[in-house]
Amino acid sequence: MTEKMLKTHIDTRPLIERFPFPFKSDSYRYSNNAESLIPSFALNITSEYLHEISEKRRILNNRKEQAFQSFSHSIDAQWEILELIVNEMTERFPSYFSIKKLDNMWTFYNHILKEEYSFVFGDSTTLPYEPLDFIGRHIQEDLVYLANRDGDLYMDAGQLCFPANWSIAFNLGMTFTEFHSPVPHFSDSGLAEKVKKFLLRMEPGNAWTRLNWTLTVEHILDTFPENYDDWGSKKAQITSKNVGELVHLRVEDQRLFRLPKSNGILFSIHTSLISIDELQKNEEWLTRFYHVLTDLPDYISQYKGFLTYKDKIIQYLEKILQTKVGASK
Ligand code: HEM
Repeated sequence: MTEKMLKTHIDTRPLIERFPFPFKSDSYRYSNNAESLIPSFALNITSEYLHEISEKRRILNNRKEQAFQSFSHSIDAQWEILELIVNEMTERFPSYFSIKKLDNMWTFYNHILKEEYSFVFGDSTTLPYEPLDFIGRHIQEDLVYLANRDGDLYMDAGQLCFPANWSIAFNLGMTFTEFHSPVPHFSDSGLAEKVKKFLLRMEPGNAWTRLNWTLTVEHILDTFPENYDDWGSKKAQITSKNVGELVHLRVEDQRLFRLPKSNGILFSIHTSLISIDELQKNEEWLTRFYHVLTDLPDYISQYKGFLTYKDKIIQYLEKILQTKVGASK
């Protein structure tokens, strides 16, 4: 991170004004939609901070092996990630986080949570958790570490509390092509290979970002495959009346950073959810969302898990949009 880090604060704007709306046109297909990230910051702190940190810690305390996994050879890279994140936290958000460094003796303060930790940088026995797991418990983003080995990228560590139906426990150790294998036509279209080559060429200091999206029933962040029965069964509750309240557009702001010391990649994911009713506050977005859904091929809706209730959403949106057009005449 080479840019001057401007001091900033929690983003408290209403959700509709800061939501990372993912559609650039009325049609959506899989593509390499990564864009250069300037300035190359990993973190966003929003009004949901306290809720999301307590959710993360609840998940990690109850189902640790589901949400944090690592290989022992990832420890040096985990320290590199901790340093990068702590630098950004303390330089951009000095009212909320600070650090005192005396050689390798560091004391980290989270002023929002009134927590203080002293540790020896580089010595994991002085931290309560592994470095990635430790620092992930202070930020809203999920963090995944990809190691660069033998011309490929391997998922070697990750703290993933808010997954869109995948899990680090299942994917640990997989290559880029392997962990994308469930995505329809990702490999056979040549896209996986193209994206992997792009990632292997990434350079330190030049970060990238992309938005990914899906739909979820209710405001649930921890949609793990391991507890699919808890959240997946909710799809059956959707009716033409409650679509707006229950169905949420779920967007992941994904960022990619080349790590200069380990030569691996840090992949951060900040997840935001907005109900369709809330989305109505922006008519342009609602109209675009309607066009994207009507144009979306079934294989994408099926993979994203909403094919069974897509028609109900489309009908609901049609009704709202007709009312809005009628009202403006
Ligand atoms: C390098 C870091 C990345 C990691 C760790 C990662 C990981 C994943 C995982 C685990 C999935 C879910 C697969 C499943 O169903 O089990 C996924 C989905 C996907 N990934 Fe990636 N990905 C990365 C980068 C990218 C990039 C740069 C692209 C650019 C095209 C991409 C495109 C996709 C697409 C299109 C999906 C399907 C998502 C959906 O339809 O909801 N990924 N990714």
